[in-house]
Amino acid sequence: MLILGLNLFHADASAAMVQDGEVIFAVAEERLNRVRHFAGFPTLAVKACLDAAGAKIKDIDHVAIGQDSDANLARKVQYALANPAKILNFIRLRQRKSAMRDVRSLLAGALDVDPVTLRFQEHHLEHHIAHIASAYYCSPWEKAAGFSYDGSGDFVSTMMARCAGNDIEVLERTFLPHSLGSFYTMICEFIGYRKYGDEGKVMGLAPYGKDTYCQQMAEIINRRNGGFQLELDYFKPLGSNQGMQVLPDGTVRLVRHFSDRMVKLFGEPREPYAEITQRDMDLAYAMQHHFEEAFFHLLNEVHREVPSPNLVMAGGCALNSVANGKIFDQTPFRNAWIQPAAGDEGLAIGAALHTYHSVLKQPRRYQMKNSYLGPGFCHPRIESALKQAKLRYRKLEQEPLLETVAARIAAGGVIGWFQGRTEWGPRALGNRSILAHPGLPNMKDTLNARIKHREWFRPFAPSILAEHQSEYFERDHPSPFMLHVYKIRPEKRTQLCAVNHVDDTGRLQTVARDENPLYYELIQAFQRRTGIPVVLNTSFNENEPIVCTPEDAITCFQRTRMDGVAIGPFLALKPEN
Ligand SMILES: [Fe+2]
Repeated sequence: MLILGLNLFHADASAAMVQDGEVIFAVAEERLNRVRHFAGFPTLAVKACLDAAGAKIKDIDHVAIGQDSDANLARKVQYALANPAKILNFIRLRQRKSAMRDVRSLLAGALDVDPVTLRFQEHHLEHHIAHIASAYYCSPWEKAAGFSYDGSGDFVSTMMARCAGNDIEVLERTFLPHSLGSFYTMICEFIGYRKYGDEGKVMGLAPYGKDTYCQQMAEIINRRNGGFQLELDYFKPLGSNQGMQVLPDGTVRLVRHFSDRMVKLFGEPREPYAEITQRDMDLAYAMQHHFEEAFFHLLNEVHREVPSPNLVMAGGCALNSVANGKIFDQTPFRNAWIQPAAGDEGLAIGAALHTYHSVLKQPRRYQMKNSYLGPGFCHPRIESALKQAKLRYRKLEQEPLLETVAARIAAGGVIGWFQGRTEWGPRALGNRSILAHPGLPNMKDTLNARIKHREWFRPFAPSILAEHQSEYFERDHPSPFMLHVYKIRPEKRTQLCAVNHVDDTGRLQTVARDENPLYYELIQAFQRRTGIPVVLNTSFNENEPIVCTPEDAITCFQRTRMDGVAIGPFLALKPEN
């Protein structure tokens, strides 16, 4: 049975293929069309899913979409009626959504086939149920508490659920305009980060701040029994777009969230690219502080309702790895399984798996053991791309490849590492990564000057061999998808100085041998040379979506000052090497 999952006309459009209950392929459209957070129809992702399954669209049994514009309709109507100025916007939004709902015609058009040949059944699933499904049905558990939070989806910002067997029972929804995602985005915009997806950057700024504004910011967000509430005076009223606009070319633009009352309280907002002042850092600090307080309050609430040691979680806010790193200190949960594509691309997997298990009542046997679900490339294809680009390269057996790359990194080189299938989700996890020595004091500046050009305050991340995690970090719960930030042990901070953030933490990737044997062995080879079972891992890209094809990797290598690139068994070095 083939189920195609989709996230379409929504940020991070994506497609996923589930074959007999197993996710065999999943990719966000941005990786293929190179438009960041693309929010149109995921034509290339659908084609890639079909190719991976060796199927035609007429072979698909079910199409599942992680969006249901009829969900929570009563709440939407209630909101529109209470805000007469919004009624016209509301009607426009409904019209746009109903045009999007003709998925059959859209798929037929994108794939150039006659719609009458398509025999699939169509399923629409509420946004946050799809998020929770994307975590629960990929987790190893038969019972868990489910939690999802983001800016908004189908008029909801937060959902709590009881997950048991094949089913997800919704316990609680927080409706718009109250949203932890909107709160975070609003403060990020105020301090000059106004692009969709910038929130992750500002998270790195928070530890540079002090507790100057925590008390004042409590006016903007306050906790109440079982939930939280925003003081709406600080926000622009919610329009038809729920905080963002999708432009005709599929790019996403944020719409200003903060009101003039923010300016009265905190002064003029920072302009993008202006100098970052202590005020901005202190606001970031207060924002992260209140976000975490509300988050732990909600998690403790869901645990009271579902007293399980296991938490499954997704939604864009679940990418807040600093908050995730404290779950085990601040709540009774002992295990957390967070979907690597916690943002909206993950809806494609969630909707498809929900259809298989909850709608079609098929048994559970799948577990997502790694995130390598995207496109991979055979050696002849890679070699022809290298030849086309007129690069000088060598082909190496596995062991010499690992030894050569490990030696280069140990000597301070910066190497692009392109292997196997592309990662699903926003993190590069050792298949589309740029690797460097984690213990060289100038490595962060080197990477920024030569390749990444990121803000000075953003840390780089460590990948660590699973067996060594507790020697280096104060927490031992694994972080296979780089979704937890933990304190680095004091005696290891010098050894990891290039990945040790200002608050002595690191956003680690735990690398287990069975999850990525080649990457594991590369880190081992590095350890044999340096004594450090860790490499610095940053995504293989430069101001663009993470590279997907060999051609993407080669052009990134050519236009940046990387020392070398290993694509499959082929190693190319810059001439000066
Ligand atoms: Fe979402």
